[in-house]
Amino acid sequence: MNLALKYRPKTFSDVVNQKHVVVTLQNALKTLNIGNAYMLTGPRGIGKTTLARLFAKGLNCEKGVTEDPCGVCENCREIDESRNVDVLEIDGASNRGIDQIRELRENVRFTPLKGRYKVIIIDEVHMLTTEAFNALLKTLEEPPKNVVFIFATTEPNKVLDTVKSRTLRFDLRPLEKHHIIERLKKIANLENIGYESDDVLDLIAEASTGGLRDAISLLEQAYIYSQGTITLEKAKELTGILPQEIYYEILSLILEKNSKEIVEIIEKVVAYGYSLEDFHKSFVRAAESLLKAHYRIENNLFSPLASKFTEYQILFLLRVLKDMELDLKGLSNPKIFVDFHLLRLSKIESELELLPTVNFINSSTPQLNNNNGSQKIARGLSEASQLESNTANGESNSKDIRQYMIEKLKLKEDGDGPF
Ligand SMILES: Nc1ncnc2c1ncn2[C@@H]1O[C@H](COP(=O)(O)OP(=O)(O)OP(=O)(O)O)[C@@H](O)[C@H]1O
Ligand SMILES: [Mg+2]
Ligand SMILES: [Zn+2]
Repeated sequence: MNLALKYRPKTFSDVVNQKHVVVTLQNALKTLNIGNAYMLTGPRGIGKTTLARLFAKGLNCEKGVTEDPCGVCENCREIDESRNVDVLEIDGASNRGIDQIRELRENVRFTPLKGRYKVIIIDEVHMLTTEAFNALLKTLEEPPKNVVFIFATTEPNKVLDTVKSRTLRFDLRPLEKHHIIERLKKIANLENIGYESDDVLDLIAEASTGGLRDAISLLEQAYIYSQGTITLEKAKELTGILPQEIYYEILSLILEKNSKEIVEIIEKVVAYGYSLEDFHKSFVRAAESLLKAHYRIENNLFSPLASKFTEYQILFLLRVLKDMELDLKGLSNPKIFVDFHLLRLSKIESELELLPTVNFINSSTPQLNNNNGSQKIARGLSEASQLESNTANGESNSKDIRQYMIEKLKLKEDGDGPF
């Protein structure tokens, strides 16, 4: 059973969050102020198709145009099951070409058969070829009466500006964790899915990074995997999320500059079967929590550590995590570089180490630059930073990184570097 599909909201009020879009679409329906083309943007599984269908139902419900479609009339049901003759759902990824769009243009010339409007939903509209876009543009310039286009895309920046400017655009937001947990709770109750504790749902919500479809699918997988009540253990295995406590320990070791134990932890993580990508992904989450705790945006596991980290150290941590991500993609033996990056973290001796970070965030720290004695190191570091940005551009190979390490070690030989 596909629970994500089963629990697609059938009414506007059932949509989780996305209030700004829901209210505007409902107002349009209420006041009969219907535009010709809408664009819904945002990451995967947060309600784009759901809202497009709800709007189509609002236009074609047998009750009349309504902000509260009945959900039970023939039109509503057919739209829910995507088999209504007046509501076309086109996958832009597999119908990319000019021929398909021409066909579509022919199609929209005919009046709706059963409803009041023809609604054309084009999913992943950014995948259309330029020719297809141009053909589409002609239709948008002289929109036939009673035709509403709804474009959905995860990558709005790839949609031609000329198309964008002819649509009313709504940016959907990733859902917050507590919204996801609430929804999972509701679905688990209705489906009689048991779970060991709320931590299970917390973990699943964490792993789905704001996408509700992924969260519901994970819940379903975890249920099948656990063959009964979902245990935290099984949920952890499935999500590949490392317990945040590990990062608490790593961050504490960084403060203590205890390199040896940091390397040992990584050994354990790998031995336990986690991938380095999982390790990195969860580390990024931990860093985000540390940052929020540091600025007292939220109180979390990392709060006791947060005040011990300086703002610069946190920025440096983020920088190192970014470097680590690139290395994980490009190298055949990334583990040694994960060690390397973590060692960098445990060697933050002076704020000068942070100059590349400062470059990275494009701000200046004049008090550091004015320090004459440090200028040599600053230059060395800015060269190192250049090497780092080569890495960021994907031009790097392990040779560059070795070079980068040598560069840093040279500073040590000079006796005043951070390593
Ligand atoms: N805002 C939401 N409220 C309630 N359920 C949602 C929401 N967003 C997603 N879902 C759940 O996830 C499923 C998929 O949502 P939907 O098809 O609307 O995502 P999408 O944004 O179109 O994703 P994609 O970019 O992959 O097409 C729905 O069937 C529903 O179960
Ligand atoms: Mg969709
Ligand atoms: Zn209806």
